[in-house]
Amino acid sequence: MKKKKIAIFASGTGSNTEQLIKHFKGHPHIQIGLIISSSSKAAVVKLAEENDIPFSVVNKSLLSNNSYMNSLLNLYDIEFIVLAGFIMLIPPFLVKQFDRRMINIHPALLPKYGGRGMFGLAVHQAVISSGDQLSGITIHYVNEMYDQGKTIFQTTCKVDRRDNAEKLSKKVLELEHKYLPEWTEKLVMEMRYF
Ligand code: GAR
Repeated sequence: MKKKKIAIFASGTGSNTEQLIKHFKGHPHIQIGLIISSSSKAAVVKLAEENDIPFSVVNKSLLSNNSYMNSLLNLYDIEFIVLAGFIMLIPPFLVKQFDRRMINIHPALLPKYGGRGMFGLAVHQAVISSGDQLSGITIHYVNEMYDQGKTIFQTTCKVDRRDNAEKLSKKVLELEHKYLPEWTEKLVMEMRYF
């Protein structure tokens, strides 16, 4: 049977991308078919090379170009998209085309601490400044707004009084690494026409 292909969109250090690659290596039904980044200097470039995964850099104007993105995603037979630390807003045509087939991971308990500018350490700093005793992760479908699509899964970790943004980010990343691959697999396997 033909494998279902996932594209990962990532701009950051790529630790979630690395976990996704590990998780799906040798998977009988699912394959990472493409990695897209907003920068040619992103750490995911190396990951793509090392793991023989097609890679493409997409800037804002290419991302918003319907025919370019369609050709790219069709070329690699992409049926599901995971945003794993992707900084740009997804244009409406892609949201529509990948309805229920595009998810994002956010390093906090949405709807708190989401939206434009809430990325990476800024999120953890905001949680610490608020005095909240719990943080965690949110996996959600992607819509036209930053961090506002329907929540699929959340889980929490404690915010310790001694935590700074870096410490908290490590705790949260551990949760991301455990749950993002599991949920991606579950959602891809459950796609209606699978
Ligand atoms: C992750 O913590 C992810 O949740 C976050 O960027 C980080 C990327 O880490 N995403 C957002 O903040 C989206 N608003 P990684 O590059 O090591 O996977």
